[in-house]
Amino acid sequence: MARIADIGAAVIGTGFIGTVHVEALRRIGVQVRGVLGSTPERGAARAEALGVAQAYPSLEALLDDPSVDVVHVTSPNHLHVPQTKAILAAGRHVVCEKPLAMTAGESAELVDLAASSGRVNAVNFNIRFYPLHQHVRGIVANGELGDVRFVTGHYFQDWLLLDSDWNWRLEPDKGGSLRAVGDIGSHWLDLATFMTGQPIVEVMADLATFVQLRQQPRGPVETFSTERSADTVGREMATEDVATILLRFANGARGSVAVSQISAGRKNSLQWEIDGSTSAAAWDSETPDHLWIGHRDRPNEILLRNPALMGAAGRAAAALPAGHVEGFGDTFAALFRAVYADVAAGRPAARPPYATFADGHDEMLVGDAIAESARSGRWTAVPRTAAPTAPPLEVPAR
Ligand SMILES: NC(=O)c1ccc[n+]([C@@H]2O[C@H](COP(=O)([O-])OP(=O)(O)OC[C@H]3O[C@@H](n4cnc5c(N)ncnc54)[C@H](O)[C@@H]3O)[C@@H](O)[C@H]2O)c1
Repeated sequence: MARIADIGAAVIGTGFIGTVHVEALRRIGVQVRGVLGSTPERGAARAEALGVAQAYPSLEALLDDPSVDVVHVTSPNHLHVPQTKAILAAGRHVVCEKPLAMTAGESAELVDLAASSGRVNAVNFNIRFYPLHQHVRGIVANGELGDVRFVTGHYFQDWLLLDSDWNWRLEPDKGGSLRAVGDIGSHWLDLATFMTGQPIVEVMADLATFVQLRQQPRGPVETFSTERSADTVGREMATEDVATILLRFANGARGSVAVSQISAGRKNSLQWEIDGSTSAAAWDSETPDHLWIGHRDRPNEILLRNPALMGAAGRAAAALPAGHVEGFGDTFAALFRAVYADVAAGRPAARPPYATFADGHDEMLVGDAIAESARSGRWTAVPRTAAPTAPPLEVPAR
């Protein structure tokens, strides 16, 4: 069993989320050996800004560094598969950002490659790791809400509202053929299955593109950037701004989720409600330490995130005492603690608590069903070849 402090990591991609990975790795005590940017110059500038020892000039140079045990892939979506293949071929553990791949064919191949490598493989569905989500998974499994019947919610953002808003996610060859669904809907869908333990088996989806012509700046643009270039070129849009999706779960529960990147004022609003046969639960990402628990015949409750009042999984994901709000950045540290427990052991646990490549592939299959349903206008089964496995209950205690 390796010591966490002796494990070396490298991060590919130095944009919005690569920076969050670097900070969370440091927080859990993992050494960040270096970063890889889109160019050696950009990588070097970001390494300097982040206080990281070096920027590798290439992926080959990164993989030649024997002090790197784990590689985090935070590059744009189209690079996830080629980079992850190279990392696994070099015998390293991988944490890959979502979505795992551009197509389900590719993600299926990654599942096989990861399995035969024996390396730890994780997809960064960090929203599972809000402590209250870990706790809810436990109370649902313990039957505290009764049978899960109805799972509803939304994931709304506004950063692509205007035709002058631009990002690589708008280009299908970089972001994928599903945009709002692949980018943020994937988090909600993974979370719904994680908390309920119920795979989504059928979907009925409607996708719409309201901003059909966008102005692409001739230079690169960072995610959530507010700078606007005057030098632009018009681009026709092929991917959805919004999605409305009806869901059927394996146990017969029904659900719906609305996804949007054009909802003015909603910066990063994820909400969900689970209605069971005896009680209900609901959460809002803008108040992430509050869990609403609804009852029929007694007063409703608010559980303020509190290690002393949550189950073991919630406690393991929490870093701070009650009343000291934990948020988005903290979920990365909680997820990485679970991943690096397996890295320290040298191999994945039989049923890891974090999303594995198999979970990332399963989410790609749900995405395929959503795209097919939107095309055909019909209910569409998720095209699985094997029965999905329910996610496990607990994360390892720290
Ligand atoms: N889990 C989450 O909450 C979350 C949040 C945001 C983004 N993401 C995912 O993270 C990934 C990156 O998104 P982002 O918002 O940080 O984008 P970004 O545009 O801010 O950053 C991407 C970075 O990748 C770099 N890059 C481009 N080509 C590269 C190459 N060939 N080699 C190395 N680096 C390269 C870019 O220079 C940039 O620094 C996406 O897959 C996205 O879906 C996940």
